[in-house]
Amino acid sequence: YDYDLLVVGSANADLVIGVERRPDAGETVLGSDLAVHPGGKGANQAVAAARLGARTALLARVGDDGHGRLLLDSQRAAGVDTVGVLTGRAPTGVALITVDPSGDNSIVVSPGANGRLTPADVRAAASLFHASRVVSTQLEIPLETVGEVVRSLAPGSRFVLNPSPPQPLSAEVLAACDPLIVNEHEAKVILGDAGAAGDEPEDWARRLLAKGPRSVVVTLGGEGALVASAEGVARVPSVTVHAVDTTGAGDAFTAALAWRLGAGESLAEAAAYAARVGAATVTKEGAQVSFPTAEEVAAL
Ligand code: RIB
Ligand code: NA
Repeated sequence: YDYDLLVVGSANADLVIGVERRPDAGETVLGSDLAVHPGGKGANQAVAAARLGARTALLARVGDDGHGRLLLDSQRAAGVDTVGVLTGRAPTGVALITVDPSGDNSIVVSPGANGRLTPADVRAAASLFHASRVVSTQLEIPLETVGEVVRSLAPGSRFVLNPSPPQPLSAEVLAACDPLIVNEHEAKVILGDAGAAGDEPEDWARRLLAKGPRSVVVTLGGEGALVASAEGVARVPSVTVHAVDTTGAGDAFTAALAWRLGAGESLAEAAAYAARVGAATVTKEGAQVSFPTAEEVAAL
């Protein structure tokens, strides 16, 4: 394989403002100076994997504009192969992000060019799929495009999905996931009515597995993660850190997990490593700009 990881997904310019608290409907609050960072769940995954040392390619679409150039520069600086980054059809995606003093964020995404990444774009990138050991995606691109990703997987390659922002998934997409990676909120949306409140995360993991994926990872923030497969359900510990900005931590977790699985680690081993990568990212502001190198993970 030429690539350890092919990420198919979104690229956004993140417009970030720190706030004491989020405004209610009809309310105005004053915040910090504006920061403009490269982001988007797909672009974040690609940068996270490349910074750790994975040979990584990104299949995405940006606009022919300054935000698009910001995204391309960030990918190239991290060492991501951008041969699959297409340009045009709409402005680059934008994420409006507020971050509160506890490091938690609220995000509104305007998909822009991400919404124009089509199944035909996926088919045109067949050579990238054949050259990649693991393929990962998220849901900031059209669902029909995610379906085409699943149909384009080369024999023997592995598919990893973080269904964020969460939407109900087809049986075809669910069956391809190895693993499906969700946080508590995403688990509840994917489970629909079956995800009743008050249930233990272990129960969600088992019910998600029953929906068809080959394996499931439930991330639990500061509580670590759960891994579930035919071999059973296991808990993976987290690393305790002081959270400054959690933006992109899930993307870095997914990328690290995908890379380590491709390298032959077990689900529990790969998730434990990914939890350390996620923890490192929350200690710094921004998404891509906060992602650690392998040396920084080892030092954590
Ligand atoms: O997961 C974090 C990302 O979500 C941000 O970078 C933002 O662009 C949104 O896509
Ligand atoms: Na961060």
